[in-house]
Amino acid sequence: MSVFLSNWEMKSIKLWLSKMHHYKDKSKSERANEAKTILQLKHEMIGNGRNRIVYDLNNGYVLKVAITKWGIQNNKTEFKIYKHCPIDLQEHLCLVKEAGHGWIIMEKMQVEVPDKIYDKGLIELKNKFLDAGIKPKDMWKSNMRLSEKGKITVVDYGNFIMY
Ligand SMILES: Nc1ncnc2c1ncn2[C@@H]1O[C@H](COP(=O)(O)OP(=O)(O)O)[C@@H](O)[C@H]1O
Ligand SMILES: [Mg+2]
Repeated sequence: MSVFLSNWEMKSIKLWLSKMHHYKDKSKSERANEAKTILQLKHEMIGNGRNRIVYDLNNGYVLKVAITKWGIQNNKTEFKIYKHCPIDLQEHLCLVKEAGHGWIIMEKMQVEVPDKIYDKGLIELKNKFLDAGIKPKDMWKSNMRLSEKGKITVVDYGNFIMY
């Protein structure tokens, strides 16, 4: 059961996951296109990484669907880290609402981090994660957004490692 997804959408995701392995050697964009075709979701696709595609749910949230095995793991990791990280770090992680096998629903964040804030704050933020026993990875600007409070917020923390 999901608050955000219909039964039809959940079935569709399940179907895609069962076919996903056929496309593992395709390029990132080809894989995303195959996923889109099979998923048939009525939402706009607003992002495409190596391991997940991202849909705008038009209610302030996004849906990330795995397009590789690693993407399934990435979704699990984000759910786990968001739920278990120290409260003072949670404001640097994009809010997670719901997750299921191969999918996750997060807050939609659109504001790019200005270079000045990124350059000034990156090392400090990395150290904050490390001090909490979380190894941050892929801290590229494309994986970050600016929160309403002006904090650097990570939207792709699927490769973080929490000990
Ligand atoms: N919470 C979000 N709000 C808005 N856009 C997002 C969000 N999460 C991801 N995106 C966009 O979708 C892209 C792919 O998502 P990402 O989580 O980075 O997938 P991957 O793990 O495959 O790299 C991101 O680079 C970003 O542009
Ligand atoms: Mg990414």
